[in-house]
Amino acid sequence: MWVLGLLLAVLLLMKGQESWGACVEVESDTEAVATENFKLGCICCKRRAEVPATASVDWYYMKVPNTSFVQIYSFRDKDITMGPQFDKRLTWKGSENSTDLQDGSIVLHNVTTNDTGHYRCEITRNLTIHSYRIPTYSQKNFTLTVVEKPTRPDASIVSEVMMYVSIIGLQLWLLVEMIYCYGKISAAGAAQRESMAEYIATPPTEKNSEDLLVDE
Ligand SMILES: *[C@@H]1O[C@H](CO)[C@@H](O)[C@H](O)[C@H]1NC(C)=O
Ligand SMILES: *[C@@H]1O[C@H](CO)[C@@H](O)[C@H](O)[C@H]1NC(C)=O
Ligand SMILES: *[C@@H]1O[C@H](CO)[C@@H](O)[C@H](O)[C@H]1NC(C)=O
Ligand SMILES: *[C@@H]1O[C@H](CO)[C@@H](O)[C@H](O)[C@H]1NC(C)=O
Ligand SMILES: *[C@@H]1O[C@H](CO)[C@@H](O)[C@H](O)[C@H]1NC(C)=O
Ligand SMILES: *[C@@H]1O[C@H](CO)[C@@H](O)[C@H](O)[C@H]1NC(C)=O
Repeated sequence: MWVLGLLLAVLLLMKGQESWGACVEVESDTEAVATENFKLGCICCKRRAEVPATASVDWYYMKVPNTSFVQIYSFRDKDITMGPQFDKRLTWKGSENSTDLQDGSIVLHNVTTNDTGHYRCEITRNLTIHSYRIPTYSQKNFTLTVVEKPTRPDASIVSEVMMYVSIIGLQLWLLVEMIYCYGKISAAGAAQRESMAEYIATPPTEKNSEDLLVDE
């Protein structure tokens, strides 16, 4: 039971939930599937959780044959500004009900192969310590590749089928072998019983009695 609890706790921590007071910097996935939605992950934890802060998040994108980074999304005081590049396909998926954004993730809807490229997330945070404002800045980079279909699941389906085939095959083989052995054993038993009966019915000659060492 406690193993399950531990697993649950770890899973919740992995989600970087702020309600637990724990923030874990999980790297973004870098492989999206065309036509599906993809979460562009960006978590920048505050080094000192107890210090109040306000933050803003900016996202930048650069196409693969390098051009330059262009701003595609900005979240500032709950105001969202979007560039034209992604045609309103971006939605906020980061921290909610908080001015201190430790999670600045966004979701890219209806991914196309055109969305391949470099993504950069910047979190600008003003820490307030004894009424002093201390600005901090952090950024995350990753390169997104878009695949037409998830490739790994196909391979895993094939290997799963192969596994079942081999398990069933092995069991059938075992069954056949068992039937064969059982047949042999019972045949041998019958033969033995037969020869025994024969032996009892016809008393052995002197030569045989020495060989077989049967006293009765
Ligand atoms: C942080 O402080 C600067 C300078 O005062 C200000 O321009 C900026 O809007 C602040 N950012 C946030 C997210 O509060
Ligand atoms: C793109 O790459 C070329 C050559 O690799 C380089 O000269 C150029 O500065 C790069 N441009 C940007 C915006 O990174
Ligand atoms: C994604 O595609 C579906 C079906 O093509 C469409 O209904 C939906 O509005 C699209 N979503 C966005 C955010 O563009
Ligand atoms: C944020 O606030 C809204 C309404 O004020 C509420 O419905 C929502 O559950 C809150 N979200 C979180 C993560 O607390
Ligand atoms: C991909 O980008 C090119 C050039 O920007 C554009 O012509 C094309 O329509 C785009 N394709 C999709 C599926 O968005
Ligand atoms: C992200 O990319 C920029 C520009 O290419 C670079 O200056 C910066 O060091 C990179 N940051 C990280 C965390 O890799």
